[in-house]
Amino acid sequence: YTRAEVARHRTPSDRVWVTYGAEVFDVTDFVELHPGGPDKILLAAGGALEPFWALYAVHSQPHVLELLRDYKVGELSPEDTAPPAGDTEDPFAGDPPRHPALRVNSLKPFNAEPPPELLTQSFLTPNELFFTRNHLPVPAVEPGSYRLRVEGPGGRVLSLSLAELRRRFPKHEVTATLQCAGNRRSEMSRVRPVKGLAWDIGAISTARWGGARLRDVLLAAGFGDKTGEDGEWHVCFEGLDVDASGTPYGASIPLKRALSAEAEVLLAYEMNGQELPRDHGFPVRVLVPGVVGARSVKWLRSVVVSPSESPSHWQQNDYKGFCPSVDWDSVDFRAAPAIQELPVQSAITEPRPGAAVPAGELTVKGYAWSGGGREVVRGSWARGWAGGKGEAIIPSFLLLFAASPPPGARLDIVCKAVDSSYNVQPDSVAPIWNLRGVLSNAWH
Ligand code: MTE
Repeated sequence: YTRAEVARHRTPSDRVWVTYGAEVFDVTDFVELHPGGPDKILLAAGGALEPFWALYAVHSQPHVLELLRDYKVGELSPEDTAPPAGDTEDPFAGDPPRHPALRVNSLKPFNAEPPPELLTQSFLTPNELFFTRNHLPVPAVEPGSYRLRVEGPGGRVLSLSLAELRRRFPKHEVTATLQCAGNRRSEMSRVRPVKGLAWDIGAISTARWGGARLRDVLLAAGFGDKTGEDGEWHVCFEGLDVDASGTPYGASIPLKRALSAEAEVLLAYEMNGQELPRDHGFPVRVLVPGVVGARSVKWLRSVVVSPSESPSHWQQNDYKGFCPSVDWDSVDFRAAPAIQELPVQSAITEPRPGAAVPAGELTVKGYAWSGGGREVVRGSWARGWAGGKGEAIIPSFLLLFAASPPPGARLDIVCKAVDSSYNVQPDSVAPIWNLRGVLSNAWH
């Protein structure tokens, strides 16, 4: 069989086919028996098992392969086992390979999110499934010749190799969630069209990051703790990814946050114990916990302290919020502050909208998070068909129904979170609609 033929078998009605090595299997009859649940095995339907088995180590046992052998239907054609040839004209031809489970919102530049049911499979999102938000082609960086340029006071420049960044500064680790300003944008487009990628609920992920504190690097470059007291100063970052005119991606954060020990802003070179993957900023990225993802600049090439915010398009003319009456004729990007700390957010990952659920007990899964280091103090789930209410701290909650719903009943599950400043999510999208579709955080 060719890979194209295998790819046509993605649902139980078309039969569910997968490959392992050069072998082809029809696992339709195993779907309901899959210990991890039918929805999980269907994520691999029509393609290779290896990328999924690599993530979920329970599969690397001999009896799993033996079990698979019972379902073999054939082999891949020899000409189809080679990887496709690269295209040298394409600026994105050097982008890294990606995990097939990612839901792709745009291929070039690459923007993709994990399927909801895998997002809450584990607290830390595996690197391969961590959402990716790229504006430009992924730069190819040779780690041996990489230099980070830090402009100190009075024009002094600190130039750091990757080895120096690792050696000269204590390694600091922080577990932090990164969320794109456009997460849940597709819900906003349903109210009125907006400009931007149609993210579902997965433009958010969590990792354990390791790297040097930005604070330590700024102090080493000659900035004292008191810098910037006369008005707010900023730390501007530039990436190695550039557009056709040679302009790099850039963004900034207030200097006060950069110098704060509690804010734990990192120049990260590790993600979940591994070196940064190329899509996430190899070899060094900024990581600003509690702040919109746009400020966590990847493939970091320079750090400049300045009395003004980054002049970058993405700081000045994007990633800002407006009220629902502002349209593309009236918008003035100078009139709104750049988004920094994000508002409280939550969403349900399982069950999926429209899914049939069993009577009796139901486990509802989701996530809740707030910006600026604010903790989530409460997450609520309400069930709609019987008028009752459940309440729990997310991430996972078991709904127990006193009586079974009548067959075919429609069940509405709603979640909302409250953070430690008692900020709550708004109940609906319309009053927070904005033309760029950012900060979409209504009850889910
Ligand atoms: N840094 C560079 N250099 N180029 C980019 O396109 N995208 C930003 C930010 N840093 C971006 C960048 C945006 S909008 C987000 S949400 C995060 O990276 C996403 O990080 P991730 O792809 O590791 O999830």
